[in-house]
Amino acid sequence: GDSILNLDKLTYSGNLENLASVKGNTNYSFVRGDIGDRALVNKILGEFKPQAIVNFAAETHVDRSVVDPNSFVQSNVVGTTNLLLESLDYWRSLEEEKKRQFRFHHISTDEVYGTLGFEDAPFTEETAYSPNSPYSASKASSDHFVRAFHETYGLPTLISNCSNNYGPRQFPEKLIPLMILNAIEGKPLPIYGNGKNIRDWLHVNDHCDAISTILKKAVPGESYNVGGNCEKNNLEVVGAVVKILDKECPRSDGKSYSEQITFVKDRPGHDLRYAIDASKIKKELRWSPSFNFDQGIRDTVLWYLNNEEWVRNVKNGSYQDWIKQNYEER
Ligand code: TYD
Repeated sequence: GDSILNLDKLTYSGNLENLASVKGNTNYSFVRGDIGDRALVNKILGEFKPQAIVNFAAETHVDRSVVDPNSFVQSNVVGTTNLLLESLDYWRSLEEEKKRQFRFHHISTDEVYGTLGFEDAPFTEETAYSPNSPYSASKASSDHFVRAFHETYGLPTLISNCSNNYGPRQFPEKLIPLMILNAIEGKPLPIYGNGKNIRDWLHVNDHCDAISTILKKAVPGESYNVGGNCEKNNLEVVGAVVKILDKECPRSDGKSYSEQITFVKDRPGHDLRYAIDASKIKKELRWSPSFNFDQGIRDTVLWYLNNEEWVRNVKNGSYQDWIKQNYEER
């Protein structure tokens, strides 16, 4: 029954097709624009009068941040701060009860904590921030601004730091969709370094469920780590994708897609391992992930196989330019 307004700049990875199923819903509206555009945000807040703002807007791809750090500062740091400033003005204008109910929920990443060794304990909410890439540095900075707006002005903020998401509709610059699409197109499956880097995989539906839980139950000023309890190295993840494809969509020559695996030059500053200790959200908000990786990855691979048109539409000119820039000279 809640009304939702979606503000999205629709840059290279934004895609209205992802929300085609809710397009006609009378509780849903869409505005194309930038969270950093204060006049626009001011107008939207005045008219729509939200009870909560959930800030998903960000540049998110580590490899792109290595090539162009400034666009990450612009969207993630300046954009978030402008959104905070407008949210603060709006929040101050609310009557007491509405003011008490309002939430500014900032979506962030486990990458702000830096990297773990193989034997280290997973990240908790107490782990010191130690970002290693321009991407994670920009997210760490935005987290600090959100925190500061709570401490300094009393804005009722929340932060969640999630692990690597996977699932349908993910833009194919990220590991899993890139591997699925490269495989079926007969292209190399580029593994950075030795493929032993570990990520904690969280299904996107579990992530959304956690955000909804935090919005409903958490006390302002808190932050929560959200993980999938699912640590896997990149070779294991690509191996799982290959196995599903070998069965569901075998190569015409009868060989395995694993023949296409190619080890390429490592990412500079490549974090070895991320792992989330999600015991705080479990204990305080009674939330834990429900997806099983084997099922989740299978559904994801099948989704990409069954949605050729979606895939065709996202692989436009700018996608091709990026693939050329990131992989051709590796
Ligand atoms: P990615 O999906 O870019 O997420 P993040 O860097 O935020 O964790 O990468 C996940 C892992 O996969 C990371 O260890 C880098 C690795 N990787 C490759 O080995 N090859 C690739 O082509 C890509 C995109 C990522």
